[in-house]
Amino acid sequence: MNNKLIVALDVDTTTEAERLLDLLLPEVKIFKVGIRLFTACGPKIVKMISSRGAKVFLDLKFCDIPNVVSRTIESVAGLGVFMLTVHILGSRRMLTESMKAVRSIARAQRPLVIGVTVLTSFNQDALREVGVEKPLIDEVLSLALIAKQEGLDGVVCSPREVAPIRRQFKKDFIIVTPGIRPAGSQKDDQQRTMTPKQAREEGVDYMVVGRPIIASPDPQKSARRILTEIC
Ligand code: C5P
Repeated sequence: MNNKLIVALDVDTTTEAERLLDLLLPEVKIFKVGIRLFTACGPKIVKMISSRGAKVFLDLKFCDIPNVVSRTIESVAGLGVFMLTVHILGSRRMLTESMKAVRSIARAQRPLVIGVTVLTSFNQDALREVGVEKPLIDEVLSLALIAKQEGLDGVVCSPREVAPIRRQFKKDFIIVTPGIRPAGSQKDDQQRTMTPKQAREEGVDYMVVGRPIIASPDPQKSARRILTEIC
């Protein structure tokens, strides 16, 4: 299913984003706008992508006081995004207020809310450096539990944590995984990776792929290769 693949548009200009859309549409149906592109181009980038018939995953990873995050989510409603992210570490109260804000949005425009567990660029040592002594998998699972209890639609985690999360939360919880690296490609700053095929076998709902496609000399070919592995 080609609607499992989300391409991260981690670029700096509308022109670069448009070039990638020209190459990847219509095979790729969902594009991720993160802090880099959103900061450079503003909300109009979301409108531009939607106007070309693709869905937008707005990955701004909101993490602030509950009032600020919930009011921001209300503003996002007007953009018509398909999915957005909040950091689960932002606190239960922040999540409760976020979900209240989301429920106030008309159903047709309501985005899915996905909680970020532990970034896929973390390994156990990096987690310890910021004061978390727990095994990484336990930290991911306890954050996922908070997300579920607060009514979020799903979580972002690494493909390696999909099986334990599925065991605990079954099917009605969306799992989004970055850290996807086709066999033989560079890991870059990602630590907890899997190939697209392995991630599909783990039962991931959506895979986020950035550099293996957007930094490839032939993005279309790289995307097609990944789509062949996950279809
Ligand atoms: O280039 P690469 O495939 O590593 O890009 C991964 C994308 O997924 C980036 O846009 C990054 O912001 C995002 N992401 C991540 N880890 C998370 C959540 C999102 O790498 N936990």
